[in-house]
Amino acid sequence: MLAVNASKFSNMSRGITKWYKGSTRFRRNCRTFHQWRESTKENRPSETALRVATRRAAHQVLDDPKVFDDPLALRILGVENASALPSDHGWLEETPLSRTLRASLAARSRYAEDELHFAVERGIRRYVVLGAGLDTFACRSPYPGEILRVFEVDHPDTQAWKRSLLEKASIPIPRTLTFSPVDFETETLEKGLLRAGFDTGRRAFFSWLGVTPYLTGPAITSTLRFVASMPAGSGIVFDYMISPSSLGPTARRAYDSLAHRVASAGEPFKTFFDPSSLPTLMRDLGFGRIEDIDPEELNARYFRGRIDKLRVGSLAHLMNAQV
Ligand SMILES: C[S@@+](CC[C@H](N)C(=O)[O-])C[C@H]1O[C@@H](n2cnc3c(N)ncnc32)[C@H](O)[C@@H]1O
Repeated sequence: MLAVNASKFSNMSRGITKWYKGSTRFRRNCRTFHQWRESTKENRPSETALRVATRRAAHQVLDDPKVFDDPLALRILGVENASALPSDHGWLEETPLSRTLRASLAARSRYAEDELHFAVERGIRRYVVLGAGLDTFACRSPYPGEILRVFEVDHPDTQAWKRSLLEKASIPIPRTLTFSPVDFETETLEKGLLRAGFDTGRRAFFSWLGVTPYLTGPAITSTLRFVASMPAGSGIVFDYMISPSSLGPTARRAYDSLAHRVASAGEPFKTFFDPSSLPTLMRDLGFGRIEDIDPEELNARYFRGRIDKLRVGSLAHLMNAQV
C-alpha cells in the first residue's frame, strides 16, 4: 500500500539520503574497500559489487513500498541504523539514472528470489548464487533448518572481501552456506562446485545477477552449459545487457554513462545479448522452458501504481530458463 504522499516522500528521502551518505561506518568500509583494492594488484574485489550493494541498501531506506526487502542490506555495508550521523558525503545521488538503476537492481533480486521460492515449492533444495557479490540471501534465508543449502560462487578476491565484511558486521555465516571461490574466466563452474562438495546429481536453482555483462562469451556459455547439464527441473535466472546499438537515444545516454562508470572501476561491459536470439542459444545449450522478461513486464509486475513513479530502465532483460 502507498501510504506516503509524493512531497512528504521526497522530503523523507532527502533526510534519509543525507543520513545514509554520511554514515561513518559506511564511509570507513568504503575506505577499507579501496585500501584493500590498492594494496596489491592481485587482490581485486569487485567494485561493482560494492556499488550494487550500496544501491540495494539505498532502496531499503529511500523507496516506499520496497520491491525487495533485505534486512541485511545496510548491515553488510557497516550501517546499523538510521540514527547515524548526517553529513554531506556525496556517495549516492538521486538522479533519474540512479533511480532506475536502483529499481532495476531491486527488481532483479526480487524476481530471482520469487523464482527461488517456486523452485523450493517444486522440491529443489540447492540454491547456487553465481557472482554473489554482497548478496545477503544466504544469511537471511526464510527456509528453516537445513531445508535449503546455498552455495555462493564468486571471484576469490570478492568472496574473501565479502567474508571479511560479514565478520565485521557480526553477521553469522549459517551452516547451510558453502562458499565456492571460482573465476569464471579461468576455471569451470563444475570444477569449483565439485570442490565445494556440490552434488551435481540433484536438482538446483541458480541465480546470476549483474555478472554476464562483465564476462567474455566463452565464460558465459561454459557456465550455462554446465547449468543445462544439471538434472531436469534445475533452472537459472540471470540478467543480461542488450546491445547499446539497439537502444533509443535516452536509454543510450543512460548506457553510456553507466558504461563509463563501470569501465572506470576496472570492470568494463564486455558482453551483450539480443533478446530475439538468446532463446535459441539457450535451447542449443540444452535448456527447455525459456522465458525472457523485459523491463515492461518487470514494471507491470513490481512497480504498478507507485506514487513515486519508480521504474526499471531499459538496458537489461532477465532470462529464466529451466532444464
Ligand atoms: C555487479 S556485481 C553483482 C553482484 C551480485 N550478484 C549482486 O547482484 O549484488 C558483479 C559480480 O560478478 C563477479 N564477477 C565478475 N567477474 C567474475 C569472474 N571472472 N569470476 C567470478 N565472478 C566474477 C564479481 O566478483 C561480482 O561479485
